[in-house]
Amino acid sequence: MTYSRISGTGSYLPERILTNDELERMVDTSDEWIRTRTGIVERHIAADNEMASDLALNASRSALAAAGIQAAEIDLIILATTTPDVIFPSTACILQDKLGVGGCPAFDVQAVCSGFVYALATADMFVRGGRCRNALVVGAEIYSRILDWSDRSTCVLFGDGAGAVVLTQSDQAGILSTHLHADGSHRETLAVPANIAGGKLRGTPFVMMEGNAVFKFAIQVLEEAVEEALAENDLRASDIDWLIPHQANIRIIQSTAKKLGIPMEKVVVTLDKHGNTSAASIPLALDIAVRDGRIKPGQHVLLEGVGGGFTWGSALIRW
Ligand code: ACO
Repeated sequence: MTYSRISGTGSYLPERILTNDELERMVDTSDEWIRTRTGIVERHIAADNEMASDLALNASRSALAAAGIQAAEIDLIILATTTPDVIFPSTACILQDKLGVGGCPAFDVQAVCSGFVYALATADMFVRGGRCRNALVVGAEIYSRILDWSDRSTCVLFGDGAGAVVLTQSDQAGILSTHLHADGSHRETLAVPANIAGGKLRGTPFVMMEGNAVFKFAIQVLEEAVEEALAENDLRASDIDWLIPHQANIRIIQSTAKKLGIPMEKVVVTLDKHGNTSAASIPLALDIAVRDGRIKPGQHVLLEGVGGGFTWGSALIRW
């Protein structure tokens, strides 16, 4: 039987750190409000000349080094982003060029904060189906460019960053299952409702969110997503060694963990350091927990996320 395994992880956060204290001077907010309502303490902001593909390049180089392979050995690139460098070509193609390789398929996935889970599930199909040996799967975002910095209800929540994994063919099970879902009837609850036509911007090019509605929906579907993954693999919540949720809000994470009976000691939380980085948040948290030695061979790691669309899903991994 052919499986896919994560053979290397990497991540990258831009140099500039924006603290809650600085935000206090920009909008009517407080460090206390942001910490208690979201769990976020600071976030990173890309430099003017940095693009999502640059963040992706740094994370990818680190993942390739961890996997012990050269960029030329990659035969598929899938990049999840909501903040592409340009309308086209895809940020995956730009990344491919920056990595100095060519020829393999490269494409973007747009599933907002669930983007990495969508990209990983897609790459897993390619690898398990024997169509590629080493897939590079990346989440990279520059949300600072689609935030209205005068809107306190959104600008305190997001940050920039990238995370990447190399998915390699193996005869040992790594990715045990993936599940993806979407419900487009909620498309207006969380959106950047803009496009361009005739060289002009139409609509509002900033994140618009009904925070409470997103919150309630997230709690409901994340619990269902975890239960779906456990049922498919005949596992119980107590069999999960590490839950790696989308890093959006500590209260969503705590509530999901509590409902499932998973103690917070088994939940990887990194959002205090980088805020909600959308498609980058799960691979960022994963990389941090792999590098600090928390995640060990043989352990069960469950990734889950929800985002605009709405989209949501999970990936259950034996490390
Ligand atoms: N600082 C101070 N006060 C604020 C701020 C702020 N930054 N933002 C809002 N407030 C105020 C509101 O105006 C409101 O004031 P009022 O009571 O006088 O009207 C009060 O705080 C409470 O506002 P709520 O919106 O009810 O606050 P809530 O506790 O729901 O927290 C939050 C808001 C953090 C946005 C929460 O709803 C949330 O996390 N939602 C989910 C976001 C999410 O998970 N997104 C994931 C997907 S993201 C993606 O896919 C791109």
